[in-house]
Amino acid sequence: MASLYVLPFLLLLVFFCTIATSYGHVFENYTSLAFEEGYTQIFGDSNLMLVRDGRAVHLSLDERSGAGFASQDLYMHGFFSASIKLPSDYAAGVVVAFYMSNGDVFEKTHDELDFEFLGNIRGREWRLQTNIYGNGSTGVGREERYSLPFDPTEDFHLYSILWSQDRIIFYIDNIPIREMVRSPSMGGDFPSKPMSLYATIWDGSTWATLGGRYKVNYKHSPFVAEFADLVLHGCPVDPVDHLSTCDRHESARYDSVVVSADQRLAMDDFRKKHITYSYCYDRERYPTAPSECAIDTHEAKRVYRSSGERFGIAEGRHGRRHGKRRHRQGSFDFGNFRI
Ligand SMILES: *[C@@H]1O[C@H](CO)[C@@H](O)[C@H](O)[C@H]1NC(C)=O
Ligand SMILES: *[C@@H]1O[C@H](CO)[C@@H](O)[C@H](O)[C@H]1NC(C)=O
Repeated sequence: MASLYVLPFLLLLVFFCTIATSYGHVFENYTSLAFEEGYTQIFGDSNLMLVRDGRAVHLSLDERSGAGFASQDLYMHGFFSASIKLPSDYAAGVVVAFYMSNGDVFEKTHDELDFEFLGNIRGREWRLQTNIYGNGSTGVGREERYSLPFDPTEDFHLYSILWSQDRIIFYIDNIPIREMVRSPSMGGDFPSKPMSLYATIWDGSTWATLGGRYKVNYKHSPFVAEFADLVLHGCPVDPVDHLSTCDRHESARYDSVVVSADQRLAMDDFRKKHITYSYCYDRERYPTAPSECAIDTHEAKRVYRSSGERFGIAEGRHGRRHGKRRHRQGSFDFGNFRI
């Protein structure tokens, strides 16, 4: 009789083991680079420090400066990844960003894909934001925010971006957390020009933590973010004519990446538990959800419950550029769903 009760659990166990082993196989062959092989410092002098034989980097923020690095090449599509460990303890107002952008090349029509960590308050968890801009469409922020299922200051976790012809996927520890499939009506809002990869730490006192209520306190500095397992696996472009050096086979590799059925289960689960904001449900900013949004009632409910936290929505800048856009969290649309 007892075995009747055990059986479903066994089946569940087998099911979850299958999921666990199937993550990430698409990228299993991608090897990480030493810093000098693919990256260059962009600011911060001695606040950027190479460690572990140049295979990992510390970026610090103190009263003098933040720090940052960028890929030496521009890429047209690819897979970009780093293991990141965030500053521990008190880090209100501190922004750590891992992102792709071409703002230096296309000032008025830039594209951007962001992971941004928005500081914390002692005793509370860090918040993560992802964002997507295409062709300078910064008025159309596509922010999402999440809590994390782990303490990102305790250990390294893997944050990755897949960018192909018609798909963008953000991953944490090889589990997709956000997918955007290009829709025809997005037009230029889908990033479609070569981008570089960036990693930065900077003072985001004015907006990062609870909409700017909690500022950087330099008593606790330096704030140190660690980056390792640096993976740049894309199609580099010629810096002058921006033509891709990838052959069709290589490009097709990225284009063929999709979220598999079991990855989708894991993504849905992550989002159901951890999403706290999505532009797709913000009816104050978007009276009609943008065309690429697929409204999900579970997500809507989760976003609505989290809206009381009032982590003011912020946008992705790497600190040295403008960036005055700020949005309040607005009203939410639940379709037929009743709270
Ligand atoms: C990993 O590399 C091997 C040898 O090049 C190749 O046969 C295999 O298909 C690759 N795996 C993936 C998932 O790309
Ligand atoms: C990007 O913006 C520029 C300037 O506004 C415009 O000329 C161009 O057509 C846009 N590209 C796309 C793909 O929409």
